[in-house]
Amino acid sequence: MSLYDLSDYKYIGSDRVFAIGLGTYNIKSYDKAFDAFIYAITQGVNLIDTAEMYDSGRAEEFVGQIVKHVGRSSVFITTKILPSRLVDRDQVLKAAHESLRRLGVSSVDLILIHWPNENMSITEQVRNFEVVYEYGLARYIGVSNFDLAQLREAIEATRKAEIVVNQVHYSVLTRHYVEKELLPYCVEKGITLQAYTPLERGSVVVNPIIVKVARKYSKTPIQVALNYLISHKSVVAIPKSENINHVQEILSSAGWRLKVEDLEYIKKYA
Ligand SMILES: NC(=O)c1ccc[n+]([C@@H]2O[C@H](COP(=O)([O-])OP(=O)(O)OC[C@H]3O[C@@H](n4cnc5c(N)ncnc54)[C@H](OP(=O)(O)O)[C@@H]3O)[C@@H](O)[C@H]2O)c1
Repeated sequence: MSLYDLSDYKYIGSDRVFAIGLGTYNIKSYDKAFDAFIYAITQGVNLIDTAEMYDSGRAEEFVGQIVKHVGRSSVFITTKILPSRLVDRDQVLKAAHESLRRLGVSSVDLILIHWPNENMSITEQVRNFEVVYEYGLARYIGVSNFDLAQLREAIEATRKAEIVVNQVHYSVLTRHYVEKELLPYCVEKGITLQAYTPLERGSVVVNPIIVKVARKYSKTPIQVALNYLISHKSVVAIPKSENINHVQEILSSAGWRLKVEDLEYIKKYA
């Protein structure tokens, strides 16, 4: 089975999203970020990733401002709750309501467990977490930073909703575990893999193999690094940028494809 994919659109559950969304971790200037995000949305980006943890809720408020500006239906909102909230259903509901208040919406499209709570079984935490779906606070649920065993257990634990996403660290430089273990399983189960830190915080630009491939295509290393990720089935990349020029560069990562021989070359040497 080929793991490659030519489409610039991916499915999360039955929703179609652009293969590149935007993250909101560590925004330094919300004013600058506002312009960059609005620009991205006008160019077709429709997924924004945030979390209650980011800037102690300020990032969610920022996403709320964006959504107010462009309209609720223009953004597929993903947020995440902290593992410490999973201890019981009331705590989960409280966390979700707090996020919704900051976001200024009545429900999010997707809510994730930010990372597994190591003090509880996966089954117990997932069953508590499902309350967000039962109460209509999120259209979909998912997980983040779950390894293969944890993801399997999470899927088996669900009773009310399905896990539609596992959001993990995945980039051209951090890819072995994902490609060997997680991604084939996600493809098999119809789970979307969201690639976080896909630019390695900008350091992909100095990788000689990525630079070499970029030259061959007259693209930038950032564009090759993201194109590599979205060339894989079921992968949505969520880079962060608050800089409109960087967003422009990011957007041109889609609309073309690296050849399979170059994807394989990157896998072998980068
Ligand atoms: N689930 C999790 O545990 C988890 C963990 C980490 C991240 N995330 C999510 O994934 C998102 C992305 O990951 P990340 O923020 O860790 O790292 P990243 O996207 O790999 O890198 C972001 C950094 O790259 C810079 N950058 C963006 N575009 C660039 C370009 N064209 N040229 C040069 N530099 C560029 C950004 O600066 P500028 O803003 O100045 O452009 C920023 O400093 C986060 O924002 C967050 O939403 C989730």
